[in-house]
Amino acid sequence: MQILDGKLLARQVKDELAKETAAQIAAGGKVPHLAAVLVGDNPASQVYVRNKVRSCEQVGFHSTLIKKPVDISQEELLHIIHELNNDDGIDGFIVQLPLPAHLDEEKITLAIDPEKDVDGFHPVNIGRMALGLPCYLPATPCGIVEILKRYEIPTSGKEVVVVGRSNIVGTPISILLSRKEKVGNATVTLCHSRTANLAEHTRRADILIASIGKPNTITADMVKEGVVVIDVGINRIDDPEAARGYRLVGDVDFPGVSPKASYITPVPGGVGQMTVVSLLMNTLSASKKAIYG
Ligand code: GUN
Repeated sequence: MQILDGKLLARQVKDELAKETAAQIAAGGKVPHLAAVLVGDNPASQVYVRNKVRSCEQVGFHSTLIKKPVDISQEELLHIIHELNNDDGIDGFIVQLPLPAHLDEEKITLAIDPEKDVDGFHPVNIGRMALGLPCYLPATPCGIVEILKRYEIPTSGKEVVVVGRSNIVGTPISILLSRKEKVGNATVTLCHSRTANLAEHTRRADILIASIGKPNTITADMVKEGVVVIDVGINRIDDPEAARGYRLVGDVDFPGVSPKASYITPVPGGVGQMTVVSLLMNTLSASKKAIYG
């Protein structure tokens, strides 16, 4: 069993991005600039956004963090988005999700200019992805593709089983891996909460992608020998012995499944590390106007 080391890969890709950014600036080009809008005080969102801002600094980007109170109105948030859309200094921006319940995430996402949507959440970018046109890929699927590419794990003709059909992970990764691309050409099954006999599907998987949001859902009896496991879950479970009172586990029962796997991503230190890198890749593309010209 080999660990798919997201932390190591993230460091490598960040080094590459830092070099490319320095070269771009040295050639008189733009310093890439990402803005992040954070609403409220969701602790996980605070951690994620802090990490995104810190990662920008590491590779030589500018970043702007816009923090707003939990009771911001929809109009006010839409106004901020409008300003960011029209700010030539900002190459791309994100609105961290989830938003408080009184805000309409769909409306907010639709308000973002697709050309600055470095999260790849806007229907224009999702549609372009589905058609194989240049687009910003959503961070987690992009991170998964990067892991498979850099570890040279073949996907062509393989049985890929994705568990979870979210808009930001399960649905896009199932489309990407079925497309006619180098990391693609797989036969993809997309399982979800209404799937009958989940284990029957997961046991067929050459590559299993778990994005369910429930700890330890994929157990050893649900996978075949030699499976490649990509665990997207990041779940907090109580642990009185941990300094913070909790620890992070994935959607896969790592101790049970890993002995049967040929490759597996750990949690933490797997896919999560690569998502920020994907956002940086998109932001660099945005600064070059590489997608939309
Ligand atoms: N919440 C969880 N993941 C993400 C992400 O990739 N982008 C944004 N904006 N919010 C998130």
